[in-house]
Amino acid sequence: MATYLRLFVAVFWSIAFLYILVCACLFPLLGSQHNSFLDEDDDDGREVLADFFKFNTCSLAAPSGNSCQSDGKFVFGVATAPAHVEDKLNDSWLEFAKGHDGHYPVRAWLNVHAPENRLKFWTQPEVELLLAKELGVTAFRLGVDWGRIIPVEPLHGVEEAADKEAVEHYKWILRRVHDYGMKVMLTLFHHSLPKWALQYGGWTDQRTIGYFTSFAEYAKQQFGDYVDYWVTFNEPHIFVLLTHCSGTWPPGSKRSTLASIGCFTNVGEFGIAMKAIGDAHIAAYKVLHQGTSKSMVGVAHHVGVIKPYGFLDIPIALSTKWLTEFQWIDQIQNHLDFCGINYYGQVKSPDT
Ligand SMILES: *[C@@H]1O[C@H](CO)[C@@H](O)[C@H](O)[C@H]1NC(C)=O
Repeated sequence: MATYLRLFVAVFWSIAFLYILVCACLFPLLGSQHNSFLDEDDDDGREVLADFFKFNTCSLAAPSGNSCQSDGKFVFGVATAPAHVEDKLNDSWLEFAKGHDGHYPVRAWLNVHAPENRLKFWTQPEVELLLAKELGVTAFRLGVDWGRIIPVEPLHGVEEAADKEAVEHYKWILRRVHDYGMKVMLTLFHHSLPKWALQYGGWTDQRTIGYFTSFAEYAKQQFGDYVDYWVTFNEPHIFVLLTHCSGTWPPGSKRSTLASIGCFTNVGEFGIAMKAIGDAHIAAYKVLHQGTSKSMVGVAHHVGVIKPYGFLDIPIALSTKWLTEFQWIDQIQNHLDFCGINYYGQVKSPDT
């Protein structure tokens, strides 16, 4: 018994020693600006963007190179997502939000009247468009819901599976955006998979790449005349993390903590799904550029604040940063006309 105990202690200390050694080796990589994380006065927004552009190949896609300053090509706009704003949408989010056994995973189901109507953007898009117009923006980002347009698995091609009425209605909405004098930035994948794709495993299954590519091709055929900018994917790593690893989003399959950690690795479901999404982006980029189309094609990338709080979580912070911020953009860097950055600042409460 005592031998086993000694062996266990020896192994434990060896691992601990190696871990601390790794922390010490990685420490210089952090650079001095990272140490200001707990500094109350620093400007988080500028710091996060500067940090991001310093290391990320996203900047190669930006026309102005290594800076995030306006060069006259900067477009000021607002964004919506179908799953967030469209009514009459029977998607995976609706099913998920209805909950079960009195548990509602989407807060609106607890305190909003008729939450399934969302913002009625499908039947009354004027409300949001007018608000955007009054705000003075020149571009409106909206999405088309993949599952609404292709409601069944397109085993015999998208043309046969597509809901033509839904397509016509989307064209009407896109014309409305132009009527209000705004440019159209159209997102193809914004945090929502068709139910049929979710059922067979979504982005962890290679079929999804082909289905998405044919959806992109169909979207170009149908909506190309109205689109000024294409966004293939919005924040895919957030989608993959919350859908596959934590079970926070539809279908809400919960996992153990250990399984979640295993998932969030390069060889886990996270890595597999992100690789598939990168491949799907590249394929979609190519079909969206076929023919005479001059519309730019890019992505909307999520850039967050990922910094260690202390010495011992340096490896975790750096690997998380690499997995979420850099890896995917590096994969698609040669197939980006622009790189949109979704940055959510940290809002401090007023000192009153
Ligand atoms: C939504 O779709 C599901 C099948 O996925 C169906 O059972 C349900 O009745 C539909 N709900 C509405 C309101 O159409």
